[in-house]
Order: sequence, then structure tokens, then C-alpha cells
Amino acid sequence: MGIEGLRFVITGSATGIGAATARVAASKGAKVMVSDLSDEQGQAVADEINASGGTAAYQHCDVTDTGQVEALMTAAAEAFGGIDVLHNNAGIHESGLAPADQCNLEQMSLDVFRKVVEVNAVAPWICSKAALPYLKESDWPSIVNAASTGAQAAYPNNSAYGTSKGGIRLQTQNLAVDLAPLGIRVNCYGPTAIATDMVTDFVKQADDPAAFEKALVNTSLIPRLGLPSEVGELVCFLAGREAGFINGAYILIDGGSLAWRGTVDQLGME
Ligand SMILES: NC(=O)c1ccc[n+]([C@@H]2O[C@H](COP(=O)([O-])OP(=O)(O)OC[C@H]3O[C@@H](n4cnc5c(N)ncnc54)[C@H](O)[C@@H]3O)[C@@H](O)[C@H]2O)c1
Repeated sequence: MGIEGLRFVITGSATGIGAATARVAASKGAKVMVSDLSDEQGQAVADEINASGGTAAYQHCDVTDTGQVEALMTAAAEAFGGIDVLHNNAGIHESGLAPADQCNLEQMSLDVFRKVVEVNAVAPWICSKAALPYLKESDWPSIVNAASTGAQAAYPNNSAYGTSKGGIRLQTQNLAVDLAPLGIRVNCYGPTAIATDMVTDFVKQADDPAAFEKALVNTSLIPRLGLPSEVGELVCFLAGREAGFINGAYILIDGGSLAWRGTVDQLGME
């Protein structure tokens, strides 16, 4: 049951949610191909998994480069004998490419907008297409895409990211339709703020980082940042053998932040 023996490819898995998912998946008996732009950190994640008794390998891959994506899928299939799960995790936010206070419509460049959409919404399509020949050979194939609460709600200075995450949410549903005849499930999930570099870098750029972080979590019924490993557990569940009736879904993992309109001080919580 679970994901025992399943062969994962996780994009952007040198850090953050991708690295945490690699560790969680390996601890549950999956074989994991770690990939990223950051070779030293990515290789370290694979080495750590192998040293603790799991099975992992590392391959450099820029998900926007079709040739590198095809090489990644070939390397994973050669290392593990096939691919069962593609986790399209690699992602960027405009605040990683331009100062956060210059990410509104008036100031943000078209190049920044295009880059965010390319990495977060176009590249998962490239990766899904490249993984398809291998997924077709799998006994338990699925694709799990990283969306965001930004796929359904707007935030300040977030138009590129919001466009890309809304796009990947609908891409998930459309690929679930395309691939249903092949028995390949396609799902996505929407985290709110998770404690990774993407969020801490964003928080650091605020005028008052402590107040900004408080504001980030105080609309959540569980008022804290999420843990990367909590997202990793959800990815493994969606890919796993207990999730066989879940397809084309978008699952929130947001501490309840989109369940209501309010702040936790109204509930006497901090
Ligand atoms: N952290 C959050 O609060 C949060 C919330 C919602 C959704 N997400 C999504 O989860 C995913 C992971 O985010 P994270 O917080 O772990 O971010 P992160 O910045 O810690 O990790 C992202 C990884 O993607 C890699 N990457 C970036 N561009 C790449 C490219 N072109 N090719 C290959 N790898 C590339 C980076 O090198 C990095 O290792 C992203 O898709 C993000 O949008 C994160």
C-alpha cells in the first residue's frame, strides 16, 4: 500500500517543499529522482536519503529546457526502471526576480511576468509530456502539481504568480481529462504560506518583517506557517495507492485560511 516501491521524479527538489517531499517519499519506501538547478544542494538531498537507507539519485534539470527535461526522465527511468510519479514542484515567485515592492502591474516588467508563468505553468506541461511515455508503462501512474492558495485568491504584488497558479490548477483538470483513458491520475494541491526560502525571502523584503509574517498567518485557523514535510505527506498520499479515486482534484493545505473571512484575534487566538 502507500507509495512503497513507487518511482518518483520531483522537480526543484534541492530545497523547500521538493526536498521535504523527497525525504518523506523515500522514508515511505519510494525511489526518488531529485532534480534542480542547484546541483550541490540537490546532490546533498540525494546523498542524505541514500545514507539513511533510502534510494535516491540526482540529476540537474532546468524545467524550462525541454532537452534537460527529457534527459531527466531518461535518467530516472534508467536509474529505477521506470517512472510512476511526477511531482511538478519547481516554482518561483516574482519577488525572487524583482524587489517585492516593484511587483505590481505598473512596475513589474513583462520579462518577469513571463518567467514566472514559464516556470510555474508552462514547465509542468513540458515535464508531464516528457514523463508520459514512462507513466504509460507504470502500474500506478500519477502526476501531482504544485498549485497554491493563489490559484483561487488574490494577494498584493502577486499577479504573475497568481496567473501561473490559477493556470496550473486548470491545467491539472485538463490533463486529468486527457490522461483518464490511460489510467493516469493528475491532481494538484494549494498550500498557503509554508516555511521555505520562497516565503522567508519574501518576508525579509517587507518594511516590518515580523508584522508581515504575523499578517501572513493570522487569517489561518491554524496560525503558523505550514511545514514543508506536511505538504510532502499530502503529495505522497495523492500519489499513493489509497488515493485511487482522487483525480483532477485541487486539495487545499492552508490551515483553514480560505475557509472563512476573519483574523484569529477575533477568536481569542494569537
Ligand atoms: N512555500 C510556500 O508558501 C508555497 C505556497 C504555495 C505553493 N508553493 C509552491 O511550492 C513549490 C515549491 O516551493 P518552495 O516554497 O519549496 O520554494 P523554494 O524556493 O524553496 O524551492 C523551489 C525550488 O525550485 C527550484 N527551481 C526554480 N526554478 C527552477 C527551474 N527553472 N528548474 C528547476 N528548478 C527550479 C529552485 O532552485 C528551488 O530549489 C513551488 O511551485 C511554489 O510555488 C509554495
